[in-house]
Amino acid sequence: MLRVAVVGATGAVGQEFVIALNKHPWLELAQVAASERSAGKKYIDAIRDPASGILRWHNREQVPEYVKDMIVSRVDEINPAKFDLIFTALESEDAKVVEPKFAQSTPVISTAAAFRYESDVPILIPGINDDHARLLNVQRKNRGWKGFIAPLPNCTTTGMAITLKPIMDKFGVENVFMTSMQALSGAGRSPGVIALDIMDNVIPYIPKEEEKVQVETKKILGKMNSKSIVPSSVKVSCTCTRVPVLDGHTESVFVGTEDPAEPADVKAEMLRFSKSVSIKGLPSAPKDYIIVHDDPTRPQPRIDREVNDGMTTVVGRLRKDTVFDNGIKYVLLSHNEKMGSAKGAVLLAEMLKDENLL
Ligand SMILES: NC(=O)c1ccc[n+]([C@@H]2O[C@H](COP(=O)([O-])OP(=O)(O)OC[C@H]3O[C@@H](n4cnc5c(N)ncnc54)[C@H](OP(=O)(O)O)[C@@H]3O)[C@@H](O)[C@H]2O)c1
Repeated sequence: MLRVAVVGATGAVGQEFVIALNKHPWLELAQVAASERSAGKKYIDAIRDPASGILRWHNREQVPEYVKDMIVSRVDEINPAKFDLIFTALESEDAKVVEPKFAQSTPVISTAAAFRYESDVPILIPGINDDHARLLNVQRKNRGWKGFIAPLPNCTTTGMAITLKPIMDKFGVENVFMTSMQALSGAGRSPGVIALDIMDNVIPYIPKEEEKVQVETKKILGKMNSKSIVPSSVKVSCTCTRVPVLDGHTESVFVGTEDPAEPADVKAEMLRFSKSVSIKGLPSAPKDYIIVHDDPTRPQPRIDREVNDGMTTVVGRLRKDTVFDNGIKYVLLSHNEKMGSAKGAVLLAEMLKDENLL
């Protein structure tokens, strides 16, 4: 068993970590940490709003028994050397300070953006760019660390990169336009999205989101050379919006391909990729990496987000695009807190252990 800690364990993503690590066969959650507000409290008390008494827990699963009485630590009470791995689910400003301290001795898997854009830091999606994990040893050497920082992408990048990869490998991808319809839980708990702003509404702007998706997609789909990643030449343009959906980001994607791509061939390629993806057999890997629906009313967040416990990217409305010379368009759904963050981070830990990087 690897001993792990979760920092930011009381937040939206942190709560999903607690679920993803419950009875995990390889990883034992031994310490949880959060802000001064929660420190010193039992986990179950820390996630209760002190004024209203409301439990700030929105997962369909109950709070797991094993974590209820664990005392939440302050970040500086964590001795990283006592852990094999630390998961962090902090806002970037905090992550920037905390993660390098941990990484001096211990590998860190992060859901924050703080280090994603540095040249010796890969942005890893298990099954998509596993070869980029080699950069973690370059990072160790560059920085004199025993550990490393391995960030996940932004949760809006994840589903798009997963679906673009098989298209890129078979047909080549030149241009991508995407509009997202992102769930409330993607904004986290603090400050989160205020009900009065989002109910009966669509907010057409999420600060810094579009830039993140555009840069991250190119890096993830880029090529690894001996010391760095050469970003893909694909051009990505997107509009990111917030919609009144609890969990699951829906994205409308238009892809200009290098070679002609018929929808039926793209579907076949996505399914072939899904069947042969490298992560098969890992404890958190889904049975289906990608599902493609012919039913034109799918995917829908309410129906499709829990498929394979939120670890499957669900595609539908795959059809020919009428503007690109060679192009297709589709709609995808990806669970922002499962594959897009906590459980995706646990899957990444499994993949890194499998590759002897942990
Ligand atoms: N939500 C998503 O779907 C999603 C998906 C992918 C990536 N992310 C990224 O994951 C990170 C966490 O997001 P979230 O949505 O979980 O946010 P959140 O709900 O606001 O949770 C933040 C967590 O950080 C803790 N925290 C705040 N300040 C701290 C400090 N100074 N020291 C230690 N802990 C501190 C909070 O503890 P208290 O409860 O004590 O305040 C809480 O546990 C962000 O970088 C976000 O961009 C989120």
